[in-house]
Amino acid sequence: MMVGCVGSNCCVMETGLNEGRVGIETDAYIRALIELHRGLDRQGPGDEVFSREILAALPGLSRDTRIVDLGCGSGAGALVLAAYYGARVVGVDLAEAFLDEMMERARGRGLADRIEPLVCDFAQLPFERGRVDLLWSEGAAYNVTFGSALEKWRPLLAEKGIAVISEITWFTDEAPDKPREYWEAAYPAIAGESENISRAEGAGFDVLFTRRLPAQAWWDHYYNPLLDRISTLLNPDEMMSAVISETLAEIELFREFSDCYGYTFYVLSPVAGKGAGG
Ligand SMILES: C[S@@+](CC[C@H](N)C(=O)[O-])C[C@H]1O[C@@H](n2cnc3c(N)ncnc32)[C@H](O)[C@@H]1O
Repeated sequence: MMVGCVGSNCCVMETGLNEGRVGIETDAYIRALIELHRGLDRQGPGDEVFSREILAALPGLSRDTRIVDLGCGSGAGALVLAAYYGARVVGVDLAEAFLDEMMERARGRGLADRIEPLVCDFAQLPFERGRVDLLWSEGAAYNVTFGSALEKWRPLLAEKGIAVISEITWFTDEAPDKPREYWEAAYPAIAGESENISRAEGAGFDVLFTRRLPAQAWWDHYYNPLLDRISTLLNPDEMMSAVISETLAEIELFREFSDCYGYTFYVLSPVAGKGAGG
């Protein structure tokens, strides 16, 4: 979801992203966004193979690793993390419906005892400082802006912790008018990789590496299943029709301009003594 959930309808909850398009974000609008994304493996672009490649490039973590997936949706990341590490993962999301789906999927994969759902605003997490070994967040940080997410999440990390955070990012310095105008309205905080790296460093992180999610992953694991889902929604009400139109516009923009923007995964380690609370 980015109209929420870049590939992403959910940011509406925090940022007023869609103001002026559907209008103000109402409960009904958010309910329609959630309903649209029901039953999908993902609520935003991503790819399990790509995620595993990132995990393989991280320093080794033990089975006692404390892992959180922030904005986990129906568990695309949390399920991979739990299986990969054999460790417990706390999946945090505001949408209880997605957490229910995550647990249903976890049960199906024999992972239910490793995944703990937490309905919570990830801007106000109840975790102790310095206790998270691996903080994972895919397609969700923009809901509070990447910069603000970095500042809020930095204090949670253990000394040798790692954060893997994906963020919608410009891949070009000179985007054409159409995507530029779209993103200026939808998410004014969108930036290029160098600016996002500066933001991460300013928030008290070293950037270990970055990796771009291939455009094909958007289609294979998010947009095509979402288009299939849309085709099953017969006689949508007015709100759902508006959400579908926005989603189709988002998809068509990506079809035309996927070389200009996409998701970059920022792999970060905290710098001792730097960042909010150090
Ligand atoms: C684009 S979806 C990504 C979901 C999942 N990470 C994935 O890749 O499939 C963003 C998720 O963030 C959640 N979200 C948005 N704002 C949030 C907040 N402030 N606190 C917790 N979750 C939030 C939404 O409910 C949604 O499930």
